[in-house]
Amino acid sequence: MNTDEALRVIFHSHGSPSVLEYQSSTVNPLCPGEVRIRNQAIGVNFIDTYFRSGLYPPPALPSGLGTEGAGTVIECAEDVTHFRVGDRVAYVQSSLGAYATQLCVDQTRLVHLPDDVSFTTAAGGLLKGLTTICLFNKVSQPKSGDTVLFHAAAGGVGLLACQYAKRKGIRLIGVVSTEAKAQLARSAGAWATILADEDIAHQARQLTGAQGAKFVYDSVGRSTWQASLDSTAPCGHLISFGNSSGPVENVALAQLARAGSLTVSRPILFDYISDSAVLRSLAEEFFQCLREGMKVRVGTTFALSEAERAHALLESRNTTGSIVLIP
Ligand SMILES: NC(=O)c1ccc[n+]([C@@H]2O[C@H](COP(=O)([O-])OP(=O)(O)OC[C@H]3O[C@@H](n4cnc5c(N)ncnc54)[C@H](OP(=O)(O)O)[C@@H]3O)[C@@H](O)[C@H]2O)c1
Repeated sequence: MNTDEALRVIFHSHGSPSVLEYQSSTVNPLCPGEVRIRNQAIGVNFIDTYFRSGLYPPPALPSGLGTEGAGTVIECAEDVTHFRVGDRVAYVQSSLGAYATQLCVDQTRLVHLPDDVSFTTAAGGLLKGLTTICLFNKVSQPKSGDTVLFHAAAGGVGLLACQYAKRKGIRLIGVVSTEAKAQLARSAGAWATILADEDIAHQARQLTGAQGAKFVYDSVGRSTWQASLDSTAPCGHLISFGNSSGPVENVALAQLARAGSLTVSRPILFDYISDSAVLRSLAEEFFQCLREGMKVRVGTTFALSEAERAHALLESRNTTGSIVLIP
């Protein structure tokens, strides 16, 4: 491969992980404000499966995939002021195409990666860590002593949420599918765990003196929506932030009244970090959490050429922590 070429993952049509193709392509010239990055590690996030499947439409087909990575700056457009060739950087919100050996990212979407944070940790944890920080501080504000319910607590976002909640004195009840995942969530800081095939709402009420959890964080979506409604305390806040089992549809507002005057949010991280100053300050908060002992568990790494396997594994429900692709 010559220097004018990059290797990347693309898809021409929506479907199962087998639509992902690994191929060489010509490198785009830089646009104003852009920085070219040689990726050292690439984050795999459940949202990538939504773009691949068509649940979230990409701007066009064929499309690249992925929005998160970490690497080294190899070229800057003339007007770039914040970054220089050789800088270590990370990003969570590139245009679709992070599954590539190199790509161009607008400087407003980049953060400097401190020397004490590895590329793999950044790619495995930055998007999920920022999501956790936003969920607990911006979307909702549980306080020390509050009890919250968190689905998929042994997943990429989930294990960071367990640790973050513990640091804040929040009692996090993690919902997970296996006893092994339950142990992992508890060792990361979950106060209690519920197995997903149990009666989640019944268990949640037993653990909260019949009240229910003040805050419920549900990224599983369709299959857990009703259980989440039933697990939320009166006047509580249900945060629906993902679709791992499919999207939640046809919600009648009266349901929220019947469930106890609930508030529901449907946040997307990217809306909370569209200002680059906010992005950088939240990233710094996350890096500080790492320095203070928070761990990003990278459960599996794959070569970039194995993105198909990475997606199949993520959707199989058999992962813990994060998946990272190495170019
Ligand atoms: N709104 C936002 O801005 C935002 C940002 C980041 C992530 N998210 C969402 O947060 C969730 C977690 O993302 P992640 O990348 O860290 O993934 P993840 O939690 O590591 O993986 C998904 C987990 O969801 C659980 N799950 C339950 N039902 C499932 C099903 N039918 N199919 C697949 N998984 C199922 C599984 O855990 P168990 O086996 O324990 O059930 C699985 O391991 C995703 O829904 C993602 O879209 C949202």
